[in-house]
Amino acid sequence: MRILVIGNGGREHALAWKIGQSPRVTQLWVAPGNGGTAHLLKCENVPVAAGDLAALRDFAVQNRVDLTVVGPEAPLVEGAVDLFREAGLAVFGPSRAAAQMEGSKAFSKAFMLRHAIPTAQAATFDDFDEATRYLRGFDGAPVIKASGLAAGKGVILPNTRAEAAAVLQTMLLEGQFGEAGKTVLIEEKLKGPELSVLAFCDGKTARLMPAAQDHKRLMDDDLGPNTGGMGAFAPSPLASPGLMAEIEATIVRPTLAGLAAEGMPYVGVLYAGLMLTEQGPKVLEYNCRFGDPETQVLLPLLAGDLVEVMLACVEGRLAEVELAWRDEAAVTVVMAARGYPGEPEAGVPITQIDAAEATGCLVFQAGTKWKDERLLTNGGRVLAVTGVAASLPQAVRKAYAGVDRIHFNGAQYRKDIGRKAIAG
Ligand code: AMP
Ligand code: GLY
Repeated sequence: MRILVIGNGGREHALAWKIGQSPRVTQLWVAPGNGGTAHLLKCENVPVAAGDLAALRDFAVQNRVDLTVVGPEAPLVEGAVDLFREAGLAVFGPSRAAAQMEGSKAFSKAFMLRHAIPTAQAATFDDFDEATRYLRGFDGAPVIKASGLAAGKGVILPNTRAEAAAVLQTMLLEGQFGEAGKTVLIEEKLKGPELSVLAFCDGKTARLMPAAQDHKRLMDDDLGPNTGGMGAFAPSPLASPGLMAEIEATIVRPTLAGLAAEGMPYVGVLYAGLMLTEQGPKVLEYNCRFGDPETQVLLPLLAGDLVEVMLACVEGRLAEVELAWRDEAAVTVVMAARGYPGEPEAGVPITQIDAAEATGCLVFQAGTKWKDERLLTNGGRVLAVTGVAASLPQAVRKAYAGVDRIHFNGAQYRKDIGRKAIAG
């Protein structure tokens, strides 16, 4: 089989790494890929941007690609899957209609209310005066969310109502988030630990992956600014079999059934970002794709052939497939460039990845590129170093043993990934 992966992050390196292990795969392309995917077995980078949908489709047609896997949300929300299907191509991911679950928080909130899926109470506005009036009657400080895609920056947690009012002004009047912020949600603030539950979906059937936990803040002890994610681990010790069954029954299944009933069956990975509140698990957001860096811990735990699972999703026969997961734990530590999450420093040489791999960890590359046979930083999140072991504490040690070997100037990484999962 010939497979195309769209994207250039650590998630896509992990996808290509796992897909390439399938005996069915003879050729793999990643568009545009990164320094890691450039040197994978059976794999080549294709210099086409993830947003150039027509060029990607043409590449897939010309090269007789058997399956395309779309990594990031933006091409999905733009309708990549619809475009590929119209050309008769098999593609793993939700249609443009179903991808609205991530592309529009106003859409997904209304969907959850229609289908009685547990979530934070929220009201949606595109008028500044109405939003401000509503805010005045709000008890305490709410969460303000730009409805559209904002690269993980569109959720603001103000400390006071005055701060919240200022956020409404920047989004609705000053257009700080562009189109994405022209509609906003004013949402009840929930409390509790967060859990990422991802599921493979074929439109009717969902198969849950082990629950993961992400570390969104830049610095240890959850201090500093929000990022795309500085590390993750799985399985989460919070996710008892009982809780996973509850999440499947009250959130994942009704979501899939509701989307199918409304004529937009969901194919691909559905990612539910949950908060475990005193009233039970509630949805904070849906993503229409694999998580980054969750993928870098989930795929190393998948025992079987990822391509078989993805084909079953695309062909609507996931009910026939049982997923097998290793009885192990995985931890990934993100190494970011100096300046991240603001303006990351690019072009810095990276060394000793081989030495890290020799310790037994997996090094997934994100913001990297090759130039004159040297590997250089080329983005905010540079590497995700994953340890897989029999227990979480061992996996933490394995990941950090790898991180300790790797060198690039200005590298920043958290020292406490996984600590919240380890008692004492
Ligand atoms: P989201 O992109 O919607 O997942 O939001 C990003 C982060 O903001 C989440 O991971 C939470 O930490 C936080 N957050 C979002 N919605 C809420 C909420 N209703 N209450 C408390 N925290 C929230
Ligand atoms: N790790 C969060 C995300 O992928 O959206």
